[in-house]
Amino acid sequence: MFTINPFAVLSEAIPSIFLQSFVIVMIGLIVVGTVMDIIHKKNVKYFFNNAKKAKKSATRELGTGERVSVIAKTVVYDIGTTSELGAGKRRVAHLLGMYGTILFWVASVVMIFFYASTSSSTPSLWPIIWHVGAIMTVLGGAWFWFFLRVDVYSEAQPWYRIIQADLFVLALIATSLFGLIWSYLQSLNLDGRWDDKVFLVFYIVSNLVLFGGVYWSKFAHMFYKPGAAIQKNLAEADGSRDNLPPEADAPEQFGMGIKREAPKHY
Ligand code: HEM
Repeated sequence: MFTINPFAVLSEAIPSIFLQSFVIVMIGLIVVGTVMDIIHKKNVKYFFNNAKKAKKSATRELGTGERVSVIAKTVVYDIGTTSELGAGKRRVAHLLGMYGTILFWVASVVMIFFYASTSSSTPSLWPIIWHVGAIMTVLGGAWFWFFLRVDVYSEAQPWYRIIQADLFVLALIATSLFGLIWSYLQSLNLDGRWDDKVFLVFYIVSNLVLFGGVYWSKFAHMFYKPGAAIQKNLAEADGSRDNLPPEADAPEQFGMGIKREAPKHY
């Protein structure tokens, strides 16, 4: 299963142009959902107004080289390692899910656009990346959803309580899990059986929910968070600090209260 391109097998029944069109429609849904979200929340407008305002209190002008270096460091460290989540399980779970998803999506696009035909042979690396990415996403996403999400971890809500905020993580887990099960069943070559087709339908529907639900879910955070991290680090480098007061030139003394319990009340 790990070395079989499931889309190439599928192309025996469904022409690859349909698979490719599906991917293009999904990308279109991301763009539409994100633009609608931006218009509705006005967050990008606020973001740029705030950045413009903060620029006025900059204490120094950054050269192009310096800007590029700040942005590169932000991409590699803050974004690439989700440093915002600090040390611990929350960050490990996010990294598993984030890199798993990236691997899963990149491998899907490569296999669908370059190797989804009965005549081409897919290098084994791509199906391996696809399956490993899906497993990482299921593990990271499930770890987060069952144990780490704030309403369960900090607010003592039962794990089975589902709210709209769970749409993104649950759809993400569903796409990877159904994709894996479909690929496994299809690789068994169970002639005349319907199992793999059922999971193919689940896989398609969960993708429609994931990409069609961008406007209602947390999907777009993967674009907003990097933008905010770059702006924050540029504001620190040029001294504007997003109009926040400078750090106190004094030791951090907050009393015992802050040390009594690990922070988990958000
Ligand atoms: C492919 C890219 C990404 C994927 C698949 C992904 C996935 C997720 C998921 C499933 C959640 C849980 C959502 C929930 O609260 O239900 C989440 C939360 C979060 N993500 Fe991402 N993410 C991605 C990119 C990023 C990036 C680039 C950043 C920051 C630079 C980021 C920062 C965060 C933060 C701070 C949270 C909140 C975590 C918490 O509540 O513990 N994510 N992400």
